[in-house]
Amino acid sequence: MKSKPINPSETEPSSTGALIRLVADLLESGDYGQRVLEVDAESVRVLEMNGALSATIPIADIHNARNEPVVGGGRLEVTTKKGEKLALISYTHTIAARFSEAARGIEQLAKGEELLINLKPQRTHCEKCKRLLPEVDGICPACVDRGKTLLRIARFMLPYKYWAIALAALAFLTTVLNLVPPILQGRLIDEVLQRHTNYPLLYQLIGVWVGIALTSSLINITRDRIVAKLAGSIAADLRATVYRAIEFLQLTYFDKKQVGAISSRVTTDTDRVWGFLVEGVPYFLLNGLMLVGVSAFLFWTNWFLALCILAPIPVIITIAVRFWKPMTQMFYKVGQKWARFYIHLNESLNGIRVVKAFAKEDSEFHKFTKRNVELQEAGVKADSRWFTIFGAMLFFSSLGTIICWLVGGAMVVRKELTLGEFYRIHAYLALIYGPIQWFAAVNNWFSRAMAGADRIFEIIDMEKEAYRLDDGVQHDIKGEVHFEDVRFGYDKSNPVLKDINFVAKPGEMIGLVGKSGAGKSTTINLIARFYEPDSGSIKIDGLDYREIELQHLRRQIGIVLQEPFLFNGTVAENIAYGKADATMEEIVEAARAANAHNFIMMKPDGYDQMVGERGAKLSGGERQRVSIARAILHDPRILILDEATSSVDVETEKQIQEAIGRLVAGRTTFAIAHRLSTLRNADRLIVLDRGKIVEVGTHEELMEKKGVFSKLVETQSEIQEIIGFDLGQAEAAK
Ligand SMILES: Nc1ncnc2c1ncn2[C@@H]1O[C@H](COP(=O)(O)OP(=O)(O)OP(=O)(O)O)[C@@H](O)[C@H]1O
Ligand SMILES: [Mg+2]
Repeated sequence: MKSKPINPSETEPSSTGALIRLVADLLESGDYGQRVLEVDAESVRVLEMNGALSATIPIADIHNARNEPVVGGGRLEVTTKKGEKLALISYTHTIAARFSEAARGIEQLAKGEELLINLKPQRTHCEKCKRLLPEVDGICPACVDRGKTLLRIARFMLPYKYWAIALAALAFLTTVLNLVPPILQGRLIDEVLQRHTNYPLLYQLIGVWVGIALTSSLINITRDRIVAKLAGSIAADLRATVYRAIEFLQLTYFDKKQVGAISSRVTTDTDRVWGFLVEGVPYFLLNGLMLVGVSAFLFWTNWFLALCILAPIPVIITIAVRFWKPMTQMFYKVGQKWARFYIHLNESLNGIRVVKAFAKEDSEFHKFTKRNVELQEAGVKADSRWFTIFGAMLFFSSLGTIICWLVGGAMVVRKELTLGEFYRIHAYLALIYGPIQWFAAVNNWFSRAMAGADRIFEIIDMEKEAYRLDDGVQHDIKGEVHFEDVRFGYDKSNPVLKDINFVAKPGEMIGLVGKSGAGKSTTINLIARFYEPDSGSIKIDGLDYREIELQHLRRQIGIVLQEPFLFNGTVAENIAYGKADATMEEIVEAARAANAHNFIMMKPDGYDQMVGERGAKLSGGERQRVSIARAILHDPRILILDEATSSVDVETEKQIQEAIGRLVAGRTTFAIAHRLSTLRNADRLIVLDRGKIVEVGTHEELMEKKGVFSKLVETQSEIQEIIGFDLGQAEAAK
């Protein structure tokens, strides 16, 4: 079934006060046609396009609502509290996702919860030119304001403005110098060659010519050196700006985009802009000046002939303008294919061990080939199209030369023009059509560069983490953490944490337990403000933590992540990551506390041992201990340990626990562990289940209560008994 696009503007909440308003694209009969779903706090309604009401269901009667997939699309179904199932409205695949959101919204309203859905229509087509966007919600390469983009690039030139001015001056000089040889050649023909005499003038003119050629070369060399400096510096500035912007992007951005796509913006896209700056900007100036200068000269020499030979130029310009937009879009698509290519390359290289382990080389190569062919096809398509257009333009510019010979030749025959004058005009012709062809061709990489620049600026303009709130408080944390009605979802409409309320007192050690996926890591992600609650608040020492300057806050929080990441460098460097000025004694002390000192000393290079990319040369348990040492050295007020000891043996874990036991004194600690016995020392345990707190209490209290926690412990002990592992621990846990 082919789906028709619907007008996004119609899907926004209307002015009638509806909370949700969506236009569906199928009628009850299954034919194409529009019907409207309207939801407000009281009821869910279905309206025909003429405004006639065809169904109303009071919100209070609704038990649940969902999007039922059917062939070719979906159907919004509501179950009433009486158990009746009602099919409300049907739609095609294209818009099913939005109705699924609406269904969630209806449920939220029915349960009396806050309406938290994301109905912002996804933009798949450009609002202006209606073309398909290369990326959902992305920019339309054909409609971006090139002038604005150029101006922004120009702004990057500001620090180097004197060099830019020098460049312009040199371009002007080159233009003037380029005008001289044809004059010399004309005079040579008329005054020397045709007269078969006049040696002194021959030597004189040749002498001037040599001088000009020399000066020209010197100027060109100087100009190109300036260009190299200018373009190199600007490209470096651009890269730095993008990198800086990426660093401060919200984590939600990284959840959506793959690393390959992001790094291609720092490399490929900045490279394109660099290419444009090196080859584009200087010649833009030079050729522009040349075009104006030479045309003026031509008209001054013989306006009629000038008019004739410049006649094909409007045709060339028309072609260039006509194909500008489609070409731009094609090149943008090529850029996109590059990004896809990079994403796959990056991922399969990162996961090379898994690829090998599952003997998936062939299927990975198959995927690679698919991307590679896509890239090839898009590239070939764009290039072929381009060469065709460029060839046509070349033909029209060669017409200029032919007209010159036709009209100019006739004038020479009629002795209206001397041979020297004809030659001069002919030489100017090359000086004029060269730049024109250049301007026609510039579209090609100008488009690529602009597309690259747009993608760069898109990142620079993206919403950042609230790092530098001017009014951010520099609060020295004492350690009270208070969750108040916190609700959060990575995707707003699908909360992962609901109604979370607890207070962790300063210095308290809180254990977070629950099944996998219960929301433990999410809770600590919120504490570190990697994400912010969708509703409710988190207070630190009674202060909404959004008021504390973000970096100041994070400097006082130490985290051992569930998947510890080490940078390629030495063990010592990794431990000192959070405290660059740490002395060797401090590093060793932290390593001892994390029970890492012994294994480090066993390494051939000790603390100077290289850990490899992502710490790949260390074992999982060693990596964890290095990252614990790193968190310890950071000396945080709030310490977060997410499965910090999951990869070490029981004996080592015990030692680390003792160390942590000493360490946690005076700091608020949140510890997550699957091995529940690990959390014996915790002052209190918070048990999470599917995003909600189900139990809170000490180990003993919870065991006595015989609720969720005691069940978890039991299951774990049973499993441990079955596999004959860690019996002592299981006993201890009981
Ligand atoms: N970045 C993310 N984007 C979207 N959903 C996520 C993201 N991270 C986690 N989730 C989802 O949120 C839910 C809670 O995840 P969380 O990582 O908090 O679980 P957990 O309790 O730490 O589990 P585990 O014990 O396995 O580490 C899961 O359903 C998970 O799929
Ligand atoms: Mg987790």
